[in-house]
Amino acid sequence: MNCCVVGLQWGDEGKGKVVDILAENCDIVVRYGGGANAGHTVVIGDTKYALHLLPSGAVRKSTVCVIGNGVVLDPAVLIDEIEMLKKHGIELESRFFISENAHVVLDYHKTEDRLREESLGKNKIGTTIRGIGPCYADKIGRSYAVRMADFRDMAKLEGKIENIVAYKNKLFGAMYKAEPIKAADIIEKCRNFAKALVPYVVDTTQYLHEAIDAKKRVLFEGAQGSLLDLDFGTFPYVTSSNASSLGMAAGCGVPAQMVERFIGVVKAYATRVGEGPFPTEQDNATGEYIRDKGHEYGTTTGRARRCGWFDAVAVKYSARIGAINEIAMMHLDTLKGIKELKICRAYSIDGKETTFFPSDAVRLSKAQCVYETLPGWDEDLTGITNIDQLPQAAKNYLAAVEKIVNVPITMVGVGPKRSQAIERKIS
Ligand code: GDP
Ligand code: IMO
Ligand code: MG
Repeated sequence: MNCCVVGLQWGDEGKGKVVDILAENCDIVVRYGGGANAGHTVVIGDTKYALHLLPSGAVRKSTVCVIGNGVVLDPAVLIDEIEMLKKHGIELESRFFISENAHVVLDYHKTEDRLREESLGKNKIGTTIRGIGPCYADKIGRSYAVRMADFRDMAKLEGKIENIVAYKNKLFGAMYKAEPIKAADIIEKCRNFAKALVPYVVDTTQYLHEAIDAKKRVLFEGAQGSLLDLDFGTFPYVTSSNASSLGMAAGCGVPAQMVERFIGVVKAYATRVGEGPFPTEQDNATGEYIRDKGHEYGTTTGRARRCGWFDAVAVKYSARIGAINEIAMMHLDTLKGIKELKICRAYSIDGKETTFFPSDAVRLSKAQCVYETLPGWDEDLTGITNIDQLPQAAKNYLAAVEKIVNVPITMVGVGPKRSQAIERKIS
């Protein structure tokens, strides 16, 4: 069985942990979108891994890892990540493949990301400054793009980079009065990137189709979350890729028909990093309580995450567009100690109630949340290993989410460790 794991909120739902758990029964794990803006955490015993580009399956020594064409790859980050795993005794040789069509994030993308955000002032998107938007823009624009295959011919790439840097310098100088970037510095870095990464560069579409024909089990790992999807999220406060499961097929060349399970990951509440609408946000003591108990600080940028109640309208929408047939709910343990829990079951917009999430910023900004209130629990859930051991109030909370979202919850997270997840059979 092939499966796809995708975030149903605004990212950081716990995808890394869920992928690591499911990877035990898979042969290949594929990252198909986003770039080093992602930060996926895997905790095994006392060791914590934060992965930005490598699929979370990388921590399992026999799992094959693939970075698909839809990823924008920052070679410096990837090389650091490979080294980091090596220090933990985890080698990737002969089990790691990078798409020759994946686009490359270079220094001028990060510069452009920063310059643009700075110039926008209070209208900024709140990006991770990892060069994501500028790199995807160059991909769509075509004329100034670098792909992984280009590293195979450094002589040709040198000329290309000189050309691109001359163009970027004109642009950054005129727009932002920025200091010029030196092409020679980037070329020097690219020589090292080529040496380290070309051995992994292949046609991953061919590789994946042959593997599927050979009955290998493939797990597709989404990055970011469906509400950050470029087309279906809260535009313009989104990322620059199709971060919902709709991005999977285009991001690796495997169509959705070849995937049986679409697993949506959610937190038992909601978080968001960066700017943008967040209807259930609790910018108050409740939000602070959740941030403190859930350690809600960004894996990539360290920024404090905004916290709020579970938004079932938003999750129902993400599940719907993503063909989600199972939900993995993480961080149920974090809600301990809150007297009354709220779940947003509808929005009221201009006096009319709706249960269909409006991705349009103007309509969404008018949404007033209609909440269902449930009693909380005081019991510590972190040691629970069986769904039957959950306090009745926690069971009721899961049932309320399932009822509104209309998708069964098949995994429940009760702590950050690999061992702190309860799998639940659908009856
Ligand atoms: P991802 O980007 O979706 O992979 O999520 P992140 O790794 O950015 O953020 C999720 C955070 O929650 C990480 O620090 C995880 O270790 C942690 N985490 C995951 N599942 C649980 C859970 O069930 N309970 C608690 N308390 N922490 C969890
Ligand atoms: P994972 O995979 C949470 C957010 C940024 C910003 C917006 C655009 O760990 O869930 P970008 O740098 O992509 O141009 O920023 O998207 N963002 C994320 N938020 N988790 C992520 O990834 C994110 N990747 C991007 O904070 O609001
Ligand atoms: Mg994350």
